[in-house]
Amino acid sequence: MIITAVHTHILHHDLEQPFQSAFSTFYNRRHMLVEIVCDNGLVGWGECRGPADINVAIVKMMTPLLIGKQALDIEPIWNDLYSQFRDQGQRGATLTAISGIDVALWDLSGKYYDKPIYQLLGGAYRKEIPAYATGGFRMVGKDRIESLVAETSGYVAQGFKALKIKIGFGIELDIAAIAAVRQAIGPKTSLMIDANHGYDLSDAIKVGQLAAQYDIDWFEEPVIPEALNCYREMRNRQPIPVAGGETWHSRWGINEALKQQSVDIIQPDVCGVGGLTEARKIITLAEIHHVRLVPHVWGTNIAMAAGLHFHAIIPPAPNAHEARSPHFEFDQTHNPFRNAIVEEPIQQHQGIIKVPDGPGLGVKVIREQLAEFAPQ
Ligand code: NI
Ligand code: CA
Repeated sequence: MIITAVHTHILHHDLEQPFQSAFSTFYNRRHMLVEIVCDNGLVGWGECRGPADINVAIVKMMTPLLIGKQALDIEPIWNDLYSQFRDQGQRGATLTAISGIDVALWDLSGKYYDKPIYQLLGGAYRKEIPAYATGGFRMVGKDRIESLVAETSGYVAQGFKALKIKIGFGIELDIAAIAAVRQAIGPKTSLMIDANHGYDLSDAIKVGQLAAQYDIDWFEEPVIPEALNCYREMRNRQPIPVAGGETWHSRWGINEALKQQSVDIIQPDVCGVGGLTEARKIITLAEIHHVRLVPHVWGTNIAMAAGLHFHAIIPPAPNAHEARSPHFEFDQTHNPFRNAIVEEPIQQHQGIIKVPDGPGLGVKVIREQLAEFAPQ
């Protein structure tokens, strides 16, 4: 199965209602897919996290290294791409580009062997994954507390047993928001907070100390991801478990954070950390350091499917009768192409998502929808 072509697809939608994390305002949704075509007619799909246009440029630069290669040689291809771009690469867009290519190769491999990816990766510990709703962004022009309470109550009504809201908009507003959400969703729904590194250490500690009374499962990206020592301080100086890792790329990036005991929960993103090939190695690192692994997911049903296959192969740690399953991050923000581009969109029922069982990623892309959401 020889690679004959590599195509990139950008999907774009302008948002009617812009929303904010601690540091950015989303005016549109823009994601990028990789399509790898082989001489036997099989096609594999992947997705790159991060700025779509930069990913397109880097995937195009990597394409000559892919044409003519045996698509089943996933590890050698990964190694070649990484090595050729190492001097200026190592993390960031080089790794997000490799990630999309790698996921597409696993999709191809699954289609070739007629098996779901989780089977090729050694088999699933679970095929039903508890999901948590990711939302709670600040809606531009809306009352923060009022819109947040309405939104999060909606997730509970939809069957979610866990949800995550954005913070990083000032200590006072954040604590008021957390208190209002806890009041609205009741004591039984798990609640997580994500500052998108919008605080410095002193303020993040204060937020953690004040928020702990509302029973928070984790405090995600409290401070900038470069400051590994501050993550460790966060763990020592406030009571909420600390999560992070969506921007730490490759086994080396993740290992550095784990060596420095930066987090209680490590959150690699399959479409950023280096694809499923690298994500599998992160499992080993998390096991060695005995740190909980709860992947980050953000994107279309391609990224979601890749994330589900990854979730399926994460071993229970510790192994126990009532072993905990890592929660699947299910982005609930407005994105009309998230589901539209595949035939049977990934859904949750009563807070549970099934891992796709078809060959490869187990999703079928609808080409007309790619055209529909192509940028003008
Ligand atoms: Ni819209
Ligand atoms: Ca996050």
